[in-house]
Amino acid sequence: MVNLTIDGKKITVKKNATIYEAAQEAGIHIPVLCYAKKLLPYGACRVCLVEVEQMKGRLIPSCTTPVTEGMVVTTTSDEIQKVRKTVLEFLLVNHVVDCPVCDKGGECDLQDLTYEFEVVKNRFEGVKFDLPKDEVNPLIERNMNRCVLCGKCVRVCDEIVAYGSYSFINRGFETKIATAFDRGLNCEFCGQCVSMCPVGAILPRPFKFKARPWQLKEVDSVCGYCGNGCTVTLGVKDNKVETIRFNDKTGVNDGNLCIRGRFGYSYVNSEERLQKPLLRKDGALVEVSWNEALEAVVAGFNGAKNAGGVGILSGARLTNEEFHLLKKLAGTLGSTNLDHSGGECYKGLTEGLQETLGLTASTGTFPQVEECDVILSIRSDFYETHPVFGMVINQAVKRNEAQLIVVADKKGKFGTLPHAATLLAKPGLEVNILNAMAAVLIEEGLAVTEGVENLDALKASLAEYAVDKVAAESGVAAEALRKAARQLAAAKKSAILLAYGLPYSANSKELGIAAANLSILSGNAGREGSGLYLCGEKANSQGAIDLQVLPGQGGLGAQAMLAAAGEGKLGALYVIGEDPLTSYPDRAKVEAALAKAKFVVVQDLFLSPTAEQADVVLPAVSFAEKDGTFTNAERRIQRVRPGVTRPGEARSDAEIFTALGALFGSTLSYTGPAAIFADLAQAVPGYAGIDFTAIGAQGVVWGGEQLAPTRKKVVPVAGGKPVTSAFQLVTGSALYHSGTMSTRAKGPLAVIPEPYLELGREDAAALKVAEGDLLKLKGNGVELQLKAKIGNRLPKGVVFAPYHFASAGINRLYRGEAAVSVEVSK
Ligand code: SF4
Ligand code: SF4
Ligand code: SF4
Ligand code: FES
Repeated sequence: MVNLTIDGKKITVKKNATIYEAAQEAGIHIPVLCYAKKLLPYGACRVCLVEVEQMKGRLIPSCTTPVTEGMVVTTTSDEIQKVRKTVLEFLLVNHVVDCPVCDKGGECDLQDLTYEFEVVKNRFEGVKFDLPKDEVNPLIERNMNRCVLCGKCVRVCDEIVAYGSYSFINRGFETKIATAFDRGLNCEFCGQCVSMCPVGAILPRPFKFKARPWQLKEVDSVCGYCGNGCTVTLGVKDNKVETIRFNDKTGVNDGNLCIRGRFGYSYVNSEERLQKPLLRKDGALVEVSWNEALEAVVAGFNGAKNAGGVGILSGARLTNEEFHLLKKLAGTLGSTNLDHSGGECYKGLTEGLQETLGLTASTGTFPQVEECDVILSIRSDFYETHPVFGMVINQAVKRNEAQLIVVADKKGKFGTLPHAATLLAKPGLEVNILNAMAAVLIEEGLAVTEGVENLDALKASLAEYAVDKVAAESGVAAEALRKAARQLAAAKKSAILLAYGLPYSANSKELGIAAANLSILSGNAGREGSGLYLCGEKANSQGAIDLQVLPGQGGLGAQAMLAAAGEGKLGALYVIGEDPLTSYPDRAKVEAALAKAKFVVVQDLFLSPTAEQADVVLPAVSFAEKDGTFTNAERRIQRVRPGVTRPGEARSDAEIFTALGALFGSTLSYTGPAAIFADLAQAVPGYAGIDFTAIGAQGVVWGGEQLAPTRKKVVPVAGGKPVTSAFQLVTGSALYHSGTMSTRAKGPLAVIPEPYLELGREDAAALKVAEGDLLKLKGNGVELQLKAKIGNRLPKGVVFAPYHFASAGINRLYRGEAAVSVEVSK
């Protein structure tokens, strides 16, 4: 700790604090422009100049100067104020004064400082900038005439996002911020630069001319998309979510968001939202009253009782409280057929981890990952599945020199980071790679074996996964496999990351086990600061697992339910917040199930392709209209708060479950989410003792920062067989979308408006394919046509199609395999 005096006040702060941070801690105001808490010190604007007694004769930027013992600092004096005012006058020499039409008006740092320092006239004269605006893309507008060259956009895009879109170009008066070759912006559209820019130089276009900041009601909630659980601040005007605001004061994400969280909100306001229940009459869905719709559901479910019962498929964007009610409703209906995903992904992965480590959740929290010295990321480039978690990993690598190992079938942004290695394997062979790494640990005597059960069985099974053999079949160099295993074993703190979700259902149990084996053998399991991270696809995937929205004793999982329904052995299907026709693997199976099930109820926000097939459609509400909790991928239970009221007669899932429960004779009557939470906290072991009303801005991590495995049992697990065809299709998540909901949001659609087939340059050249050409994709007896997208990340022979788009019908061809053998032609 360091002692110093600021404006006569004696304070003690951390050794590596800057003067600005020390002043902030002491409640002393110093104006800043280029400073941002989450960025490295920069010192460009000079607005924060202060005087230090020991450095007499010049003013010092407080945001970059570290404190030293005994320092005596003065933050305001006539001279300091004069210099700051001069700095502002210089900034205003060329800066356009278009505040009346600038969307940043009212929250612009330059405007605020001009006001604070009473710069009413300028002693200097200059010509105002007249640079062209960049309006190339629909999400971000750049007007460099307003730029104050603070460098925050350059820094955030490089330091946190790792994209590196911007740089300073030219010199002196001509200096400006530009993209490569000074073209229009074309990037990830995360909007981090929008949130960082202190003036109106970088603005969110969808928000243009929608509201002045003071007209917005701000509501902190949790992003409704992925399991990262970022805090979003809804900016609401006239009962519409007009923007998602930057908030670095609460939550897990330091105000960082990805395109989905920042620009993917417009579906909430969509005109296409369902507003009234629909009932099929004479073959067509017609609007009816809630009473009529619910009576039809009761009749349909009653009819199903003797015809195989009801199968319940839920999405993972319901709140914990809603899951709790759903479980109760399932009990009332006498159904153990309950699941929350289309593949065996959730079930398989959780079973695998239960068997090996005795847990079904991440063992650590995200900030711990930033401190890890080795990070192993399996199957996902987290930039695509959980982009803000990707930013944490980026910072671990760039700021703390963590070594990053990515096991994947395509190259990604991760692979370009310093100290990063991508073990680029043929699709579907991740388990083989992990097994080979486990074999290296044992062979080289690096494995932690104390207290480990079942070691001999594992050792015997690993003979099949000798490094050279796996190297030959996977295409990953043997030395790279050995090196990765050694790095993991040598780590003081390591993180093993697994993404899971609908498009990643293949071999999920095997993958969970193989990752857990490696976690145990490398010493990762149970070690302080190390962790195994299970990152669910949807906002409340972890909550669904915690609340056991999984098949009960003797019950059917999602795939088995669909199979049973397709054979006419399931009386009714109740689909909640999911669009299986679009997103579940094996569309033919879903079609058969919907056609053969005697009665189908869909509860959703939109008339999705699945809803169009239903007998009854119940209009539900979005995350922005809900009160309750989500549990993110670190086990953090966070409050979801309503910002707008629901459209028409839509009801929350909780209300619908309660009403249905009552009609089936059970009393699911609670006074609200707090009461439901109190009840579920008694039923879910990890949630015991947590009080809903005490869940603060940072949420509550159930089980604590470090969740200890209850056992360490290694289990033999079989790897995959390489697909040998010339082309192999893999599917998954595209960075700009999440599930099917983002395909209803203008922001993500503005960047990726339609499905595509991505292929590498080598394949594109061999097939003589140009970007946008229509390609034929044949496999599993199905032929599809998709537009070509050509990039650098796919190895020869591997093609990728995102699974989000109903129109693509990719799930006609993809049936849940790790890789589908396909033919690709023009
Ligand atoms: S939107 Fe994101 S990726 Fe694009 S320039 Fe801004 S910070 Fe960089
Ligand atoms: S565009 Fe904004 S964030 Fe970037 S340097 Fe200019 S003022 Fe700073
Ligand atoms: S989609 Fe995920 S990473 Fe992106 S803002 Fe939402 S919670 Fe965060
Ligand atoms: S805030 Fe310190 S130099 Fe800009």
